[in-house]
Amino acid sequence: MGERGDIVLPGWQTMSYFSDVSNLCWFLEPEFAHQVRRLHSLVGNAVVDDGRFIIVGTGSTQLFQAALYALSPPDAAEPMSVVSAIPYYSSYPTVTDYLRSGLYRWAGDASTFEGDAYIELVCSPNNPDGSTREAVLSSKNGKTIHDLAYYWPQYTAITGAADHDIMLFTVSKSTGHAGARLGWALVKDKDVAQRMTKFIELNTIGVSKDSQLRVAKILKVVLDMYELPGNKHRLFEYGRRQMSMRWRKLRAAVKASGIFSLPEFQSSLCRFTGEETETYPAFAWLKCEKEGVEDCESFLRNHKLLTRSGRHFGVEAKYVRISMLDRDETFDLFIQRLLSLR
Ligand SMILES: Cc1ncc(COP(=O)(O)O)c(C=O)c1O
Repeated sequence: MGERGDIVLPGWQTMSYFSDVSNLCWFLEPEFAHQVRRLHSLVGNAVVDDGRFIIVGTGSTQLFQAALYALSPPDAAEPMSVVSAIPYYSSYPTVTDYLRSGLYRWAGDASTFEGDAYIELVCSPNNPDGSTREAVLSSKNGKTIHDLAYYWPQYTAITGAADHDIMLFTVSKSTGHAGARLGWALVKDKDVAQRMTKFIELNTIGVSKDSQLRVAKILKVVLDMYELPGNKHRLFEYGRRQMSMRWRKLRAAVKASGIFSLPEFQSSLCRFTGEETETYPAFAWLKCEKEGVEDCESFLRNHKLLTRSGRHFGVEAKYVRISMLDRDETFDLFIQRLLSLR
């Protein structure tokens, strides 16, 4: 990227709360929205036609809460149940319940949920285990939020353009700019889009314009690279090569250790690259198969490996989640330490 991604923001710019008062999402920077549409059109991972509303958020974490607010009836006698199939992303229960809202509350594993009214969170590819997922519940009064943070070509095959009611994306996982704190939702229904916008107005009176303009520039640079014929500096191909190399090293280390196992994934045709590809999740979902070890997180901590226990994801402590996205030095150290375990 070099200097191509630099931007200069004069001190007198981006002072107003407003970005575009003619847009339902009045704090959405038009240039950011333009690059988001360009990005989905290039990758083909989500429908982003003119009828779809783009809502920008301070990370998809804010949009997830905006969606819960938008989908929960304001006058219901009981809070709406929020569910997700195990193993689920560990922030879903904590973010849902930390304010003890009267509108919604965490109700656990979607696969065992009994009831008619709910909000189901569908994360695909799934954090923590990398599986491709669909909603497990279906009911007239049920709603779904699709968290597609990892539906990008460096992690998985793009098998088609997702077309769900609410789809969440984030630059944290698409380009890796987690520090920009920027995500976006693609929303079908106008009322839902309006209520999500209202939540963000009440919560933070909009979303940093500086961040939107910075990310718009970064996305523009990434996308322009695809318009230069024969250009080798293409983000998603680079990302996929890195992920494939790391997963090869990890699988070899796990095999050599003989005491762990990893999920297996089927390869699929990626419509973005036109090639058959495997899945290379952003996290390794490692199971400890060693006799007598019930708590894999503690076992690994004793060997100077920091992981997150399966307990946070609604399953047994034999599982841990490990990031595959750390810097090269850290990743190589992780593999070395794993190789020393028997
Ligand atoms: C599935 C999933 N959704 C959302 C997020 C958070 O995204 P953001 O940084 O945009 O808040 C993460 C971060 O790890 C994630 O794994």
